[in-house]
Amino acid sequence: MRIGIAFDLKSDFAPTAGGPEDRLEEYDSEETVAAIAQALAALGHQPVRLGGGRRFVEAVLRAAPELVFNIAEGHGTRSREAHVPAVCEMLGIPVTHSDPLTLALSLDKAMAKRVAAAQGVPTPRYSVVEDEAALDAIDLRFPVVAKPLAEGSSMGVRLHSRAATPEALRALVRPLLQGYAQPVLVEEFCAGPEFTVGVLGTGRDARPIGVMEIVPRRTDPEHFLYSLEVKRNYAEEVEYHVPPRRPEAVVRGVAEVALAAHRALGCRDVCRVDVRMDAHGVPMFLELNPLPGINPVTGDIVILATRSGLPYQDLIGAIVREALARHGRAAP
Ligand SMILES: Nc1ncnc2c1ncn2[C@@H]1O[C@H](COP(=O)(O)OP(=O)(O)OP(=O)(O)O)[C@@H](O)[C@H]1O
Ligand SMILES: [Mg+2]
Repeated sequence: MRIGIAFDLKSDFAPTAGGPEDRLEEYDSEETVAAIAQALAALGHQPVRLGGGRRFVEAVLRAAPELVFNIAEGHGTRSREAHVPAVCEMLGIPVTHSDPLTLALSLDKAMAKRVAAAQGVPTPRYSVVEDEAALDAIDLRFPVVAKPLAEGSSMGVRLHSRAATPEALRALVRPLLQGYAQPVLVEEFCAGPEFTVGVLGTGRDARPIGVMEIVPRRTDPEHFLYSLEVKRNYAEEVEYHVPPRRPEAVVRGVAEVALAAHRALGCRDVCRVDVRMDAHGVPMFLELNPLPGINPVTGDIVILATRSGLPYQDLIGAIVREALARHGRAAP
C-alpha cells in the first residue's frame, strides 16, 4: 500500500531572532521520519514523504496516497495539529491518528480538561490566565504549576515551574505570557508519582499498550516536574519503570483514567496520556498527546511500547492497522 508520511521537521523552520529557546521543540527530526519510512517498508508498504504545510498540500495531491501516516505538528495556531487531517478529510484520504476536532481540542489543555472532566475524568483544578491582572482572582490551592496553554514537549515547563506562593506564581507567569504569546494554564500541583500511558485503538476498542512510571533520579519526587531540561537529558535525570513498581490495582487505576480521557476526547488509533497522582494517591488526568512523539530512541511511547513487548515496527504496524480498520479495510 502507498502510504504518505506527513511531518514537520525542526529544519523546516528558519532560525529567527528572539522567541523562546524551545520554540521548535515539538517538531521532528529526519531520524524519526526515516524510522517510520523504514518500518512501513519492512511491513511491505511503499512510504512516500509528503512533509508538512504547503509542501504537504502539493505533495498529497501529486502522490495520491492510499493512507497518510500523520505526525505533522502544524504551525502557527492552536488548531495547527488539525491542518493535515483536515486536508485529508477534505480530499477523502484516510489518515492515521485522531481527527481535526480531537487534535485541536487536545492541544488546548484547558479545553481538554473541561471535556474530560465533563465525562467524570479526574483532573486538577485550574485557571486560565490571559493577563497578569487575572492572577488577583485566582482561587486555587498552592502549590500550583504554570505552563503555556497550548504547547507540548514541555515547552515553557522547567523544573522551577512550580509556585508555592502567589508572588512566586506572578514571577513564573510574566515571562510565559510574554514569551509564548498565549494564555497560561495555572493548575493545582499533583505531588504524587507520575505516569504516562500508551493507548492503541478507538472508542470502546481502545486499550492500553502499557503504563510507564517516570521516576526522578536527582530531584525529590514531590518537587519533580518532567520538564524541558529533564526530557532533553532524560538518560541522567529519570528512570522509566515499565510496568511501574506499584501494586497492580494502582497501575490499573492509572490505566483506567488514561483510557477514560482517550475516549472522552475522541482519540483515534494511538495516543499517550499523562497521569499524575495527587497528594492523596488519586490518579489525575494532566493532558494527552494524540500525536505522541515517535522518535525510535527517545519517544516515550516507543520506550513504553518496546518494554511492553511491542517493538517499533509493530507499533507503526498497529497504528496503520487501527486506521485502516476504521475505514473498513484490513492491512494488506
Ligand atoms: N498539575 C500538575 N501537577 C504536577 N505536575 C505537573 C502538572 N502539570 C504538569 N506537570 C508536570 O510538567 C510536565 C509537563 O507538563 P505537560 O504534560 O502538561 O506538558 P506537555 O508539554 O504537554 O508535555 P508532553 O511532552 O507530554 O507533550 C508533566 O509531565 C508533569 O511532570
Ligand atoms: Mg505531557
